[in-house]
Amino acid sequence: MTTITSPHNPRLKELRKLTRARERARSGLFAVEGEDLVLAAQHAGRRAVEGFHAPGVNVGEERFHEVSPTALAAVSALASGTRVIAVYEQRWSAPSGQLCVYLHGVSDPGNVGTVLRAAAAFGAACVALGPGCADPHSPKAVRASMGAIFAVRLARVREMRELPGRRVALVAHAGEPLWRLEECRKALTRGSGAPTTGRQALTLLVGSERAGLPDEVVGACEHVAHIPIASDSLNAAMAATVALYELTRPSTRVPA
Ligand SMILES: C[S@@+](CC[C@H](N)C(=O)[O-])C[C@H]1O[C@@H](n2cnc3c(N)ncnc32)[C@H](O)[C@@H]1O
Repeated sequence: MTTITSPHNPRLKELRKLTRARERARSGLFAVEGEDLVLAAQHAGRRAVEGFHAPGVNVGEERFHEVSPTALAAVSALASGTRVIAVYEQRWSAPSGQLCVYLHGVSDPGNVGTVLRAAAAFGAACVALGPGCADPHSPKAVRASMGAIFAVRLARVREMRELPGRRVALVAHAGEPLWRLEECRKALTRGSGAPTTGRQALTLLVGSERAGLPDEVVGACEHVAHIPIASDSLNAAMAATVALYELTRPSTRVPA
């Protein structure tokens, strides 16, 4: 096997293009950096379309090329450099599953990636993206997802009726406190781990960093709920994380 030593190698040039949103949209591909993310992909049954590794690193897949550390550092988006970069196909599906998170206008890729990470942590099946959301396959979003990009289904949504189950709009200081949606929580978690009889799907809706959820989106939801806080609002990804915890926690809490 020959080692790629030049950063001008055609394969590395193609790889570098994937940092651009337009090229990711055109090719349907995206790149990840680091052995942890390649392992996360393998754990999800995904194989790289193509990959690059430093000498001495073995990720156990074909289609990987050995690259000198200098050439690899030249195409890495990480300041600390990397030992592995791999390219995968983007996968999109229809929104589905028992628990889904819908993002509307969440434009910070770090927030989109963090929501993916939280969705995987709390067992949500899907993250659905409405208009104005950051690309979940951008390097920053992929890094923030910590591998969850491979574990959670991604969907693009145009109409609210595409979202599964009851829709809960998260709006700071509006509607009911989230803990009061006990029926939704019970319907969601009832018999989890066992047959899904009696369970009802739910979608949590989170709005943009500045404007929040538009009125027409809130108006299309069965519930409006807030996480009681002492300040104006939480960061969008933080609100999604707290709400996912609240709706998936197993025990009943009796408020004082
Ligand atoms: C930074 S906030 C948007 C703040 C915006 N100025 C507003 O008034 O909605 C981003 C999103 O996080 C969610 N969020 C933030 N704090 C929340 C809270 N305390 N309860 C429920 N959702 C919250 C909402 O979905 C909101 O659209």
